[in-house]
Amino acid sequence: MQRHQYDVVIVGAGGAGMRAALESSKRTRTAVLTKLYPTRSHTGAAQGGMCAALANVEEDNWEWHTFDTVKGGDFLVDQDAAEVMCREAVDAVLDLEKMGLPFNRTAEGKIDQRFFGGHTRNHGEAVVRRSCFAADRTGHMILQTLYQQCIKQNVEFFNEYYVLDLLMVAGKATGVVAYELATGELHIFSAKSIVFASGGFGKVFRTTSNAHTLTGDGMGITWRKGLPLEDMEFFQFHPTGLAGLGVLLSEAARGEGGILRNKDNERFMERYAPTVKDLAPRDMVARAMANEVREGRGCGPDGAYVMLDLTHLEPAHIDAKLPDITEFARTYLGVEPYTEQIPVFPTAHYAMGGIPTNIKGEALASNDDVIPGLYAAGEVACVSVHGANRLGTNSLLDINVFGRRAGIAAAEYAATAEFEELPDAPEQFVVDLVEGLRTSTGDERIAAIRADLQATMDLNAQVYRTEGSLKQALTDIEALKERFTRVGVQDKGKRFNTDLLEAVELGFLLDLAEVLVVSALARKESRGGHFREDYAKRDDVNFMRHTMAYRELDAEGNVNIRLDYKPVVQTRYKPMERKY
Ligand code: FUM
Repeated sequence: MQRHQYDVVIVGAGGAGMRAALESSKRTRTAVLTKLYPTRSHTGAAQGGMCAALANVEEDNWEWHTFDTVKGGDFLVDQDAAEVMCREAVDAVLDLEKMGLPFNRTAEGKIDQRFFGGHTRNHGEAVVRRSCFAADRTGHMILQTLYQQCIKQNVEFFNEYYVLDLLMVAGKATGVVAYELATGELHIFSAKSIVFASGGFGKVFRTTSNAHTLTGDGMGITWRKGLPLEDMEFFQFHPTGLAGLGVLLSEAARGEGGILRNKDNERFMERYAPTVKDLAPRDMVARAMANEVREGRGCGPDGAYVMLDLTHLEPAHIDAKLPDITEFARTYLGVEPYTEQIPVFPTAHYAMGGIPTNIKGEALASNDDVIPGLYAAGEVACVSVHGANRLGTNSLLDINVFGRRAGIAAAEYAATAEFEELPDAPEQFVVDLVEGLRTSTGDERIAAIRADLQATMDLNAQVYRTEGSLKQALTDIEALKERFTRVGVQDKGKRFNTDLLEAVELGFLLDLAEVLVVSALARKESRGGHFREDYAKRDDVNFMRHTMAYRELDAEGNVNIRLDYKPVVQTRYKPMERKY
C-alpha cells in the first residue's frame, strides 16, 4: 500500500479535470488520477463545437445564449448558473485559442461559428451561428490542447489509477483510495480538496454514444457515501446515432445543412418545429424521430430508423467541416454520405443530472450545505446549467467554465485548510470490495448482467417512458442486483485485471440505473429529456423543482432510495411554452 499527499486531488482527466488541474496546479500541489490515459478521455469524442456568443459571424450576445440555455433545458435550469456559464463562455473560448487550439477560421481570420440545435437569435427568432469548432473534432482538440498545457505546467498525472472510494471524516472530504491497474496495488491519497471530474454513466444504455468507460464511477462512489444525486431522471438522447450502433454523428451535420427525412423522403421536422426545423433542441428532435418510426414512417427493412441527408451539400464542404463523421458512416454502415442518406436513430448521450454543486463547483449535501473539501465539474456534476435537456455544444463549454471554477475553488480552499486525519484503516472498504470480487466463485457473468441491464434500460427508460415501463425497468434492475451478488470474476490475478474492474463498474451502473428509474417514476410530468406518455404535459405547479435522491439504509441494512426536491433558481425568465 502506498501513501501520497497532495493539496488537491482531481479524479478524471477529461476536459473538466484537466481544466481544473491547470488552475489548481498554478496555485498549489495537485495530482490528477485517471482510470485511462488523459488523451483517451471521453471529451475526445465530442464533435461539433463549443458555443459562445462571440458574434464573429453575426449579431449575438450572452443574454440570448442564456435564454436559449434556460428554454432548451425546459426551465429546470438554475438561471444564476446559466448566466455565469454564458457570460464566461467568450473568455473560455479565447483562453483555449491562446493555448493553441486550432479552431476553424473565417475568411477574415476570426474563429468561425456554426449553427447548432436550440441556439437562436433574439429569443427564438431564428437560428444563430454560436458554435466555435475545429471541424468535427472539437472535443478531441480541446483534450489535446489541455493535455499539452498540463504537461507544460508539470501537472502530476497518475494514469490508469481507478479511484474506488472517497474518504470522509466528520463530513469533510479528506482523500481517495485508488487501485493501480498495472499492479493491483492500492494507493491512499490524502488531500485537502478533491475534485470529481469523472464523466457520465451512459453505459446503463445499450444504444449509446458513450465509451465503454462511461460507467458513472464518481457518482457511484459519492452515492455509496450517502451523498445526494440530483435530477438523475434527465438523460439526453442525441438524435443522430448511427442506426443500430449508437455511434455519434454530430449535430454539426444538421448545423451545416443536413436534413432528417422519413421513408416518404419528407423533411418531417418542419411539422414538429416550424421555425428552426432540424435544429430544434435534442429532446424534441429525438422524440420526433421516435414518433416517425412508431407511426410507421421509419426507413429500412423494419422501419426502425430515419435518414440523415447530406447529399445536397458540396463534397468539399462535407470534407472540410464533417470529415470524421462521414468517415464513420462509410466505415460502420458502408454508406457514402456524398450520394446516400445515412440511417440514424437516437442514442443515449448525456446525463443532465449528477453530483449537486454550486457555481463554484463545491459539492452540496442536503439543503445546499457545502461539503468541505469536495468539488465536482463536468458531466459528473449537476450545477444545474442543463436542466431537463442540454443544448448541443453547452457541454464543452460547461467543462471549461466549471472545470476552471472548480480548480480555482479547490486550490483556494486548500490554501487555508489543514490535512485532516484519515479514517482508521482507510483502505478497508476497497480491500473488501476488490477482494470480495476477486475471490468470488459465482456463476453469473459480468457481461451478461450488463447486457440485460442495458436491454431493459433501452426498452423501458428511453425516449418514451410510462409508469408501466419504468416499473418493469425497476423490477429488472432489482433482479439484476440480486444476480450481481453471485457474479464470478474469472481473472484472479493482480496485473491489468480489467475483469475485476468491470465488475466494480457494473456495480456503479446498477446503482445509477436504479436512481434514474426511481427518480423518473416519481416525476409525473414530461419535461426535456424525460417524456412520460402517461403525463405528457409539463407540470410547473408540481414539478418545477429538482429531484434530490438519497441513499439510506433501513434497520436491516437494506438500501432505500429517498427522494426529496429543491426549488429551481429563477432570475430573469418565467417558464413559457416551448415552441421552436
Ligand atoms: O453533436 C455533437 O457534436 C455533440 C455535441 C454535444 O453533445 O455538445
